[in-house]
Amino acid sequence: MKKIVVISGAGISAESGLSTFRDSGGLWEQYAIEEVATPEAWRRNPEMVTEFYNLRRKQLLSAKPNAAHRALVELETHFDVQIITQNVDDLHERAGSSKVMHLHGELLKVRSSVDESLIYDWAKPDVKLGDYCEKGSQLRPHVVWFGEEVPMMGPALREMMDADILLVVGTSLNVYPAASLAYAVPDHTAIYVVDPGDMSHAGLNAHHIRGKAGEFLPGLVQELIEEWS
Ligand code: OAD
Repeated sequence: MKKIVVISGAGISAESGLSTFRDSGGLWEQYAIEEVATPEAWRRNPEMVTEFYNLRRKQLLSAKPNAAHRALVELETHFDVQIITQNVDDLHERAGSSKVMHLHGELLKVRSSVDESLIYDWAKPDVKLGDYCEKGSQLRPHVVWFGEEVPMMGPALREMMDADILLVVGTSLNVYPAASLAYAVPDHTAIYVVDPGDMSHAGLNAHHIRGKAGEFLPGLVQELIEEWS
């Protein structure tokens, strides 16, 4: 089987009703990154950070996978598919994708703020100040904040090395180190981008389908199956 690596971002979940970050009306227009998504914000104002992620979690619990998430599942009958997502939602998993790597963490998990190996499932809607891990420290979101290491970068880079096809869906490729993955594939890898935005800033040698993932990814998946499997 040929191997497809998918790099997904907030845009793939937009049609499920979850906001992207940098589009007009996106999350980083409504919130300042330095107030909700940095270790300093957590130290200064844990209540605000906790509320921000509680709201994200609440929205996620009422969202459903869309046609784009489902199309990627269909690829698995013909290809070895590895999804590397920057998203903290679980919509790829709920659609049925079997190999999903989360670069920036997961909303439905929390972890100890003193011992990052203590990670807990958290499907309940709200985390409160005063919810502690077994070592007695406050639970924090299991997400990567700006200024923190991205522990999954090593495993993600290894996946790029033998990709026959790279699919980049719904990410502005503005955030590093995640964006660097798109440039880590071998020269012979065929690259497809599905995104309504102008992706010329990324400088990828790619076939760009300029449209929404839910509308255009199912068709691209059929083409890939016909041409490559
Ligand atoms: P961005 O908000 O930066 O980019 C979203 C991309 O999705 C843009 O290129 C849009 O054009 C595209 N888009 C919008 N609607 C779409 C649709 N229906 N179908 C397909 N594409 C669509 O989001 P990311 O690139 O995911 O990190 O952002 C990367 C990281 O920045 C996030 O993981 C998050 C954020 O800060 C952290 O919080 C650490």
